[in-house]
Amino acid sequence: MTKPKDIAVLVGSLRRDSINRKAARALAELASPELSLETVEIGELAHYNEDFDRDPTSTPASYTAFRSRLARANGFLFLTPEYNRSMPGVLKNAIDVGSRPYGQSIWQGKPAAIISLSLGALGGFGANHHLRQALVGLDVPTMQQPEAYIGGGDKLFDAEGRLVAASTRQFLQQYLERFAAWTERHAA
Ligand code: FNR
Repeated sequence: MTKPKDIAVLVGSLRRDSINRKAARALAELASPELSLETVEIGELAHYNEDFDRDPTSTPASYTAFRSRLARANGFLFLTPEYNRSMPGVLKNAIDVGSRPYGQSIWQGKPAAIISLSLGALGGFGANHHLRQALVGLDVPTMQQPEAYIGGGDKLFDAEGRLVAASTRQFLQQYLERFAAWTERHAA
């Protein structure tokens, strides 16, 4: 059997009871053997400051660890809430940290997919597309179909945080199958 693709999962919420984090856990369980999903934490990354990259001795250890973890990944799966019709700052910061130093972006050319979850009916559409816009600029082939804007996210999980909504489980399973094919198609 071929080695599973290493997919770095980035969650745009730091909240303990985050529905996006619960969905990330469910996805790791639902993934077929072709994909290995691991959440990479982004909450400790300092706000991006170009001065930190002018001289390697001033680069924060958190940046270096994050960049080397993502450089090993075969692809990226983003789970994001919507904050004020856009992606949360913590996620944009992670995108920025990974995109520098100039010419050494760890995002370049690797396949990705975006799932947004919110409490409301719009399913984080605005955040999903703002994130997609950043990924266009970073030359990240981001899966177009199926789209994943998941509304009513608070009704999908039980008290232990397990995904209990059968239709969402089925949708996410199919989504992962399409994403596995997408990562294969865009494998470096
Ligand atoms: C929100 N929320 C929100 N929801 C939405 O559908 N559109 C929006 O623009 C916003 N804006 C927004 C701003 C801020 C600062 C917060 C804290 C929240 C609500 C959001 O969808 C809800 O809190 C989700 O539960 C957040 O996802 P996690 O943390 O559960 O993953």
